[in-house]
Amino acid sequence: MKVLVVGSGGREHAICWKLLQSPKVDKIYCAPGNAGIGEIAELVPVGAMEFDKLAEFAKANDIGLTVVGMDDPLVGGIVDKFEEEGLRVFGPRANAAIIEGSKAFSKELMKKYNIPTAAYETFDNYEKALEYVKKGDFPVVLKADGLALGKGVLICNNLEEAEAGLNTIMVDKKFGDSGNKVVIEEFLTGQEMSVLSFCDGKTIVPMVSAQDHKRALDGDKGLNTGGMGTFSPSRYYTPELAEECMETIYKPTVEALNREGRTFKGIIFFGLMLTPKGMRVIEYNARFGDPETQVVLPRLKTDLLEIFEACVEGTLDKINVEWEDNGTACVVLASGGYPESYQKGYEITGLEDAKKAPNILVFHAGTALKDGKFVTNGGRVLGITGIGKDLDEAIKIAYEGVKLVDFKDKHYRKDIGVK
Ligand code: AMP
Ligand code: GLY
Repeated sequence: MKVLVVGSGGREHAICWKLLQSPKVDKIYCAPGNAGIGEIAELVPVGAMEFDKLAEFAKANDIGLTVVGMDDPLVGGIVDKFEEEGLRVFGPRANAAIIEGSKAFSKELMKKYNIPTAAYETFDNYEKALEYVKKGDFPVVLKADGLALGKGVLICNNLEEAEAGLNTIMVDKKFGDSGNKVVIEEFLTGQEMSVLSFCDGKTIVPMVSAQDHKRALDGDKGLNTGGMGTFSPSRYYTPELAEECMETIYKPTVEALNREGRTFKGIIFFGLMLTPKGMRVIEYNARFGDPETQVVLPRLKTDLLEIFEACVEGTLDKINVEWEDNGTACVVLASGGYPESYQKGYEITGLEDAKKAPNILVFHAGTALKDGKFVTNGGRVLGITGIGKDLDEAIKIAYEGVKLVDFKDKHYRKDIGVK
């Protein structure tokens, strides 16, 4: 089968890499992809939001399945478009991807169906929102309702910060229309973890757990980023906790979406926090995490294409999804200055050595080819995944990989997996 993967980051590189292990996959195309993905897939120069062109490409090239990695096209209805055209596609329709597209929607859903989450109120009026934070406790969490590249969440320690935050979101519209509504949330504390899951609309199969490091600098300091590194499994996600989450969070979420007429097929990403009062949902995403995928998929034993097809066909209950009993860690190599301003176009050295090293995987995020050489082309440049018999070994191997690869102003966290 020929498969089309839509997206261009380290996550899509990992998805393409895993799909290629399937004996049923003859060829992978990736739109638009990146230079690293181009080594294993044929790149298609079409943007992820160009639904008509993507559908046309899928038809013309006899694509058996399209896999959508990114949130924007899912929330924007790429799956609806492909289905209308009679094309097979893996991912939720827009009416289900809304669990990521609108935080106000997902909070209401959780409240209505008793799924544990932080207490909150939603406002579309600045004055009323301000009145509310004046009466509440600090810190308080402000969230722009819509997609904001993972940057629409502000944690405010006092009234001054909260007032400034509301201004940023609702008045200055820093996140555009995403800030038409704001969710104001109780501040929770505890260990954060990510559990991604396969879902066919009825059956939900959680993957192994992971933890992300979102801040730019060691010790969780600095600005929020798309993710500076991940590891799997989380040390806090015990089998007992997994069972509890299945009954109180995962199954109820699938059921709630069905009751609302929003059947979800694809990946549900549960952003969780283990608080002193128990597990709480921090957020839902409607896709694989980046860089969670780079540590989760290397641990998957089962054929990923078979799982995707079962999700599309509604036969996930027939598949035994199996995982390696090991550990993985991914260290993101970023451009100096990320997530603010940074330079592009620096030559990357040592990639061949890293690729040849045992138990090391190199996933490209922001790279390009210039005169036959790989150069930096984004904030997050590469993800180096180490695979070990356990987490500690994986972390060690990942950092050995980090030493092999270099480019000017290379920045990475030295404490991935320490928490
Ligand atoms: P999100 O975009 O929803 O993933 O939020 C970004 C980050 O903000 C999360 O990964 C958490 O670290 C933090 N966060 C979100 N909501 C809360 C909350 N209610 N309490 C404490 N931290 C939060
Ligand atoms: N790593 C967090 C995300 O993909 O949203």
